[in-house]
Amino acid sequence: MLSRIFGRKAPHRVAITGTDGAPSATIEVGRNKTVLESALEAGLSYPHDCTVGTCGSCRTRLITGKVDAITPFGYTLTREELEAGFILACQAVPLSDLAVEVDLAPADLAPRTFAARLVATDDLTHDIKRVTWEADAPVRYRAGQYMNVSWPGAPGPRSYSFSDAPGVDGKVRITSFIRRVPGGAFTELLFAQDLAEVPFTIEAPHGGFWLRDGAGPLLLIGGGSGLSPLMSVLEHAAAQGVARDTILLFGGRATRDLYCQDDIAAIGARWPARFEFRPVLSEEQADGLRFGLVTGEIPAAIADLGGAAGLQAYLCGPPAMIDAAVAVLTDAGVPLTDIHYDKFTDASTVAR
Ligand SMILES: Cc1cc2nc3c(=O)[nH]c(=O)nc-3n(C[C@H](O)[C@H](O)[C@H](O)COP(=O)(O)OP(=O)(O)OC[C@H]3O[C@@H](n4cnc5c(N)ncnc54)[C@H](O)[C@@H]3O)c2cc1C
Ligand code: FES
Repeated sequence: MLSRIFGRKAPHRVAITGTDGAPSATIEVGRNKTVLESALEAGLSYPHDCTVGTCGSCRTRLITGKVDAITPFGYTLTREELEAGFILACQAVPLSDLAVEVDLAPADLAPRTFAARLVATDDLTHDIKRVTWEADAPVRYRAGQYMNVSWPGAPGPRSYSFSDAPGVDGKVRITSFIRRVPGGAFTELLFAQDLAEVPFTIEAPHGGFWLRDGAGPLLLIGGGSGLSPLMSVLEHAAAQGVARDTILLFGGRATRDLYCQDDIAAIGARWPARFEFRPVLSEEQADGLRFGLVTGEIPAAIADLGGAAGLQAYLCGPPAMIDAAVAVLTDAGVPLTDIHYDKFTDASTVAR
């Protein structure tokens, strides 16, 4: 308490290890600074985006030590995550030396800014388009990461996950699946106008959503445009010959929400281990398709993959779906450290 009133002189040390347990860096965090601020000042590629405690990108597990939260972590993290000791590095001010666990991106994948033009849009469903931008230089990223897109007069950048596998030296043409959000500043424009002349700015790569090493099975869960980073991860993994049993669960309301089925079948055909695509519809009963909420299919998928031991789960889509899926996964015995996700938050989520 006294140190918070009068300030403290000595910086606190924060030891960072990856989720594989390997030490990756130790930083010093000065008075009233957050873990994220100091990590970025030290030149680390610490996962982050909003820096105000809403996106969850800087999710970090606190192993030892105490922190103060500038805004409560519970606005963004689930109850299961809080109980497991997760914090948001952008909101965490150390009150002692800390040991934390987070996967840092390689230094050569620090975010850069690109000028870009929108060169193609293709309808994937009634409310999702594949959007292709052409950047002024190759954009490098890991499969599963996302970009921040801005345009003149934008109320703020919008985040979109890459849907293609990354090239070896990056890609000039980058794609994302974008869902129309009624009343949304960017997506209403995208669905109503030709944006070919708009000078976009893209900042990338962002996020810590990528395939971790391991030999255990993979459970991928997507909803709506949340298939975007999952397709990037799957395409890249297929090209790398990743031989892990995999089930892809996809949640939609009706058959008209299904897309990329041929691409998924093509990935499945060359996958060197078991690969199953299980679409789940919540509002339409259709022959051969599962009916209900996608989260309801998680226990059966885990059982079919041989149980929770060694399984990694990758989730993308609406925040409510992710929160519900995380609860089911942890109940089924999947540790939070093996659950990776990007919540597709928007202005309505942030304004909660
Ligand atoms: C890490 C990440 C990755 C993402 N990847 C994708 C992706 O690959 N594909 C994809 O489709 N989306 C993705 N998103 C979501 C995307 O970034 C946008 O949020 C989404 O496209 C909506 O943008 P918009 O400008 O159209 O809507 P916004 O302008 O953000 O509005 C969204 C909704 O909120 C309402 N709203 C606006 N302001 C307020 C307010 N103050 N209070 C209450 N409600 C408000 C609007 O009326 C609208 O209904 C991702 C998000 C994140 C965080
Ligand atoms: S960077 Fe910390 S929550 Fe967004």
